[in-house]
Amino acid sequence: MSLKSAIQPECLPKHVAIIMDGNGRWATQRSQDRNLGHEQGAVAVRETVEAAAEIGIEFLTLYAFSTENWNRPKDEVNALMNLLVRSIHNETPTLMKNHIRLRAIGNLDSLDAKTQEILDEAIEKTAQNTRMTLVLALSYSGRWEITEAVKHIARDVQDNQISISEISEKTVSKAMDTAFMPSPDLLIRTSGEYRISNFLLWQLAYTELYFTNVLWPDFNKDEFYKALIDYQKRERRFGKTSQQLELI
Ligand code: FPP
Repeated sequence: MSLKSAIQPECLPKHVAIIMDGNGRWATQRSQDRNLGHEQGAVAVRETVEAAAEIGIEFLTLYAFSTENWNRPKDEVNALMNLLVRSIHNETPTLMKNHIRLRAIGNLDSLDAKTQEILDEAIEKTAQNTRMTLVLALSYSGRWEITEAVKHIARDVQDNQISISEISEKTVSKAMDTAFMPSPDLLIRTSGEYRISNFLLWQLAYTELYFTNVLWPDFNKDEFYKALIDYQKRERRFGKTSQQLELI
């Protein structure tokens, strides 16, 4: 039996988020430059996007570049940015063909002009696609996003748009970059690290976490299916008891 056929289509996560980790180690294990790991990582991105769209995932969010990644050596940052621009540019026709909408979250103003231009172009071109939304987290960190949301809400209070007593969890969620999508149902992290690394801190409150030792460049459709199968075995209680869930 193939792994894919073990997945129940009626219990799919709506939103899958992925921390793609291990590109550097993958390259080092092969005595290659780290940037080759990133190049191979882009191949794994392609395969994962294809698998997610085929199976019927509605939102796929990829942690492509964190706020902290700016601190890497300059040549690695440049190589990553070039790879992103190249991948977005080259893959836009595939996104169109497969009816995939592209969105981005993060401090996009901190990206260089060329990257912003290519990204904006692809986002605009794919805006009407409805099969799946692919979200790239770029120059993103959860703490940055929460800080920006706090500033946004504080400004609204100052401008008398909202009173302090009216601020609710919904107000905060709406002030997040991710306001256009539901919280992730499933988070996948590759490379055997057990950390959240400043990713979607607000949104992961009730997300199921899946960790695999596979390094990101080796991640493929079957690895994605394994994560979905594991997710489908989980009981999502959202703070309730198992008994309460049986009554629903
Ligand atoms: C983590 O591996 C990966 C990244 C910092 C970048 C992720 C980028 C890609 C997969 C490239 C292409 C992306 C798109 C969206 C086309 P690491 O370098 O931290 O690995 P290490 O922990 O082994 O050093």
